[in-house]
Amino acid sequence: MENKQVVVLVGTGSIGQAIARRVGAGRHIVLADISEKNAQTAAKIFNDAGFDTSVMVTDLSSRASIKQLIDHAQQFGSVMHLINAAGLSPSQDSIEAILHVDLYGTAVLLEEFGKIIAAGGSGITISSQSGHRLAALFEQDNTLLATTPTESLLDLPLIKNIDDTLKAYQYSKRCNGLRVMYEATAWSKRGATLNTISPGIIITPLANDELNGPRGEGYRNMLAKSPSGRAGTPDEVGDLAAFLMSHQGRFITGSDFLIDGGATAGYWYGDLQYLKKTH
Ligand SMILES: NC(=O)c1ccc[n+]([C@@H]2O[C@H](COP(=O)([O-])OP(=O)(O)OC[C@H]3O[C@@H](n4cnc5c(N)ncnc54)[C@H](O)[C@@H]3O)[C@@H](O)[C@H]2O)c1
Repeated sequence: MENKQVVVLVGTGSIGQAIARRVGAGRHIVLADISEKNAQTAAKIFNDAGFDTSVMVTDLSSRASIKQLIDHAQQFGSVMHLINAAGLSPSQDSIEAILHVDLYGTAVLLEEFGKIIAAGGSGITISSQSGHRLAALFEQDNTLLATTPTESLLDLPLIKNIDDTLKAYQYSKRCNGLRVMYEATAWSKRGATLNTISPGIIITPLANDELNGPRGEGYRNMLAKSPSGRAGTPDEVGDLAAFLMSHQGRFITGSDFLIDGGATAGYWYGDLQYLKKTH
């Protein structure tokens, strides 16, 4: 085993990369993704910028795969930072796939890394503003989503009753925040912090295609009506994550941070209320 500090990034898209760049200097960065191509593309960018990396094909929806990732990461040293920026969006896949990756997979990842995270370490999982568009749940449902043993999560009646991909995504993202609260109590016993970031629309290659594609006008109109009047950038999410993972952020754990240019405020109480019919 080498004796470096290790950063594990699951999901090597632009948001994950922006965070890993900010906390990865002088450390070993494991770039984990279900797509080897995406992970290798990220590795080239990171290696050309002076970072030390390795690539690991990982399926977030599989406990066995997550355990292999941990074994791989620990070869290089102790895991200081976990960044989970993997996920499927409502337009990308089926209800079942979204629930397996975004809801179950994230819960298992936090549970397994909570057993090995280093003292002084921290974790960030990327949720979404979408979780904040779901109406308030009863306390009992919150408790079930936060604390149900991971292998039983997908059998909860409130999850089994989900019948569209948007709801699957919203429940998954709401569950991420609740799960982080629950797991943060376990992570704190190892001296580590754990938080969620819930971004609004962030410009990535996919989002850029949407903005310039056939449904682009609707998106551009929505952004214009949001309090900030624009989409966010991966770097802005990266800056927030870097703060949460820094020494200055040590008093912050079990929390969820909206970074959406005010879109959630606009959705509930401002010019984006028209979206309530469809979102
Ligand atoms: N881009 C946005 O506007 C936006 C807004 C809110 C939340 N988010 C969330 O941010 C996260 C990252 O999104 P992004 O826009 O960077 O997406 P992206 O598609 O660019 O990156 C996601 C990465 O996750 C990987 N992935 C998918 N399924 C996986 C699995 N089972 N195991 C391992 N890796 C897997 C993909 O291969 C991809 O490389 C997601 O959780 C998404 O829901 C994004």
